[in-house]
Order: sequence, then C-alpha cells, then structure tokens
Amino acid sequence: MSPGEPTRDQTLAPGPRPVLTPLRRARRFQLPGAPSALIGREHDLAAARALILGNHTRLLTLVGPPGVGKTGLALALAESLEEDFDQGAAFVDLSSLRSPDLVGDAIAHAFGLRQQGNLKTC
Ligand SMILES: Nc1ncnc2c1ncn2[C@@H]1O[C@H](COP(=O)(O)OP(=O)(O)OP(=O)(O)O)[C@@H](O)[C@H]1O
Ligand SMILES: [Mg+2]
Repeated sequence: MSPGEPTRDQTLAPGPRPVLTPLRRARRFQLPGAPSALIGREHDLAAARALILGNHTRLLTLVGPPGVGKTGLALALAESLEEDFDQGAAFVDLSSLRSPDLVGDAIAHAFGLRQQGNLKTC
C-alpha cells in the first residue's frame, strides 16, 4: 500500500459503527419454571451447579424426605444452567411413570430422540 492510499477501514461507508449483539443461542427445551421462589438454598444450588459443571458428574441425584424441596431445587438448578449449555436444559417429569423400564424412553422423548436399532439419535 502506498502512502496516502486509503486504508481498508477508511474505504467503508462513513457513519455510526453497527452495534453487534451476540446471537441468542436457540433453546430447544422449555423449563416449567419453579412454582415458588426457592428460599435458603443458595449454598445447595451453588454446590449442585459446581458438581454439574465439573468434569466428573454425569448424574446428580437429590435425596431427602418428602416435601423437603428436591424438585424445587432441581428446577432452580436447571434454570441456572440454561446458559451453560448450548441447547439449554430440559425437565423430564417422571412422576407419572409406573415402571423404571420407561425412564429411558421418557428421557429420550423429552429430548426428541428417535430409536434406530439399539441407538437413540437426534
Ligand atoms: N427452600 C424452599 N423455598 C421455598 N419453598 C420450598 C422450599 N423447599 C420446599 N418448598 C416448598 O415445599 C413444597 C414441596 O417442595 P418440593 O415439591 O420441591 O419437594 P420435594 O422434595 O420434591 O417433594 P416430594 O418428595 O414430594 O417429591 C413446595 O410447595 C415448595 O414450593
Ligand atoms: Mg419432588
């Protein structure tokens, strides 16, 4: 480039620079939303988030007496993780299932997976 020749930037049309906003990633799944605000579970929520986002946890089970807040915590956790995964987080309601044999199919259905031979695929 010789002296005085416009630089690439100078050849662009004058005017305000466009504001580029990141594209919001498409969410595939809709969370039901917690029925009420979670109270006093900040520590548990942070601990569960750290486990899920760590490299060693593929399944996290919340256990406790009836009504202690397992489902509420799970929903708040899923909501808090939505931005951490490209396609968000899904809630699979297993409460109406009458056999553990149906768990796999219920999860596959919620994630829109189809059975091909012995494999489930998107
Ligand atoms: N930390 C909390 N903050 C606010 N509400 C709570 C909390 N824990 C429990 N609740 C309320 O108590 C009720 C039971 O909570 P939840 O359904 O999450 O319990 P659970 O442990 O999943 O019960 P179950 O054993 O019957 O499945 C709900 O109405 C929920 O809103
Ligand atoms: Mg529950």
